[in-house]
Amino acid sequence: MDALELLKQDHARVKKLFDKAESADDREQKRIFSQIKSELEMHAHIEENIFYPAMQRYDELKEMIVESLKEHNNMKTLLQKMASLSDREDFEDKLEELIDNVEHHAEDEEEGKMFPKVRELVSVNELQKLGAQLQAAKGQRKAS
Ligand SMILES: [Fe+2]
Ligand SMILES: [Fe+2]
Repeated sequence: MDALELLKQDHARVKKLFDKAESADDREQKRIFSQIKSELEMHAHIEENIFYPAMQRYDELKEMIVESLKEHNNMKTLLQKMASLSDREDFEDKLEELIDNVEHHAEDEEEGKMFPKVRELVSVNELQKLGAQLQAAKGQRKAS
């Protein structure tokens, strides 16, 4: 699978979890949230350590990557905050904020300028190789 397809699948998986979380009861919501948190942390990890660094050498992508890293940091701060919230209303407010932020970010990557630009600049071969690296990094992180 090529890198862009893999990253898109991640986005789609998280989106499904968001839908589930929104309609879940209190307890179930916390359980789904912990899945969301680990999915997002894993996704940010492979983008930050493999995908973005590989794209860094294309001048046209540099600025977008800087912006993306900022958004990842905001997201991680929000995930940490949410993990320690006990009040349901506070939690649901933050959940809505998280969903907005992440969906906006994923849209920017997929349909905004990033992935279309990557398709233009990077060869099929390189995207395949990167896809394999992303997959391997996921396996490694899960095992550790
Ligand atoms: Fe991202
Ligand atoms: Fe992403």
